[in-house]
Amino acid sequence: MKWLLASDLDGTLLGDDGALAGFAARLSQGRERIVLAYVTGRHLESTRDVIRSSHLPEPDVIIPSLGAQICLGPTWHALPEWELQLTRGWNVGRTKAIAAMLPGLRLQPRENQDAFKCSYTLCRERADTVLPALEAYLRTHGDAARIVFSSGRDLDLIPEHGGKGNAVRYLAKHLGIPFTRILVSGDSGNDRDMLSLGCSAVVVANAQPELAYGLPERVYRARAPFAGGVMEALDHFGWTEVLSDEGAEG
Ligand code: GLC
Ligand code: MG
Repeated sequence: MKWLLASDLDGTLLGDDGALAGFAARLSQGRERIVLAYVTGRHLESTRDVIRSSHLPEPDVIIPSLGAQICLGPTWHALPEWELQLTRGWNVGRTKAIAAMLPGLRLQPRENQDAFKCSYTLCRERADTVLPALEAYLRTHGDAARIVFSSGRDLDLIPEHGGKGNAVRYLAKHLGIPFTRILVSGDSGNDRDMLSLGCSAVVVANAQPELAYGLPERVYRARAPFAGGVMEALDHFGWTEVLSDEGAEG
């Protein structure tokens, strides 16, 4: 049975090239025992581009656009049953119309928009007033969209049943991997639901201030930033044997 390493990219595995090269080398020692999933706010093409242009190891699964798809390599076809789950209660037109009613939200470029992700920017200073107002508007209009605020700047509206956390849970079930064999890693607000799943989880040292509170106690706070923090967590959570040449059975 395999182990699942589900990691965010920007600000988590990406950010320190030297540390990433070290992480890639470390992972290669047990690569066949691990399902490697990149769980990111980037869309699929942008994710594939950054894999090609960096030291990122080739993953087995890409979960792009905050869980809008679950794409299996090497063909990157999306799991159709997952999309069915996302459509429940989701109405992208209505969600966008509600967001347009609020001042202070600026649509991100077209390529960042997805059928299951509406993305905006919002300045940190306005967040305290705009976020509760948006939440109230969505509820009043019976809209089930979930608000995800990251890096004090990015605001995503996604299906209630979507998000990184639900997507990782779905993937693990699909692959028959138990929670005890999952490690997730992240650095910002859009990782919160994934980090709160209850499995082994690490927040890298350079994380955004929004992750300073409200996470389960079990979540490990690494001393090292970026990929170095994820490597540190592999030891902390006892993945040493998974990544040794002899391999792990237990
Ligand atoms: C990525 C996406 C962007 C999103 C952000 C936070 O940067 O490109 O659309 O808002 O992640 O989730
Ligand atoms: Mg990130």
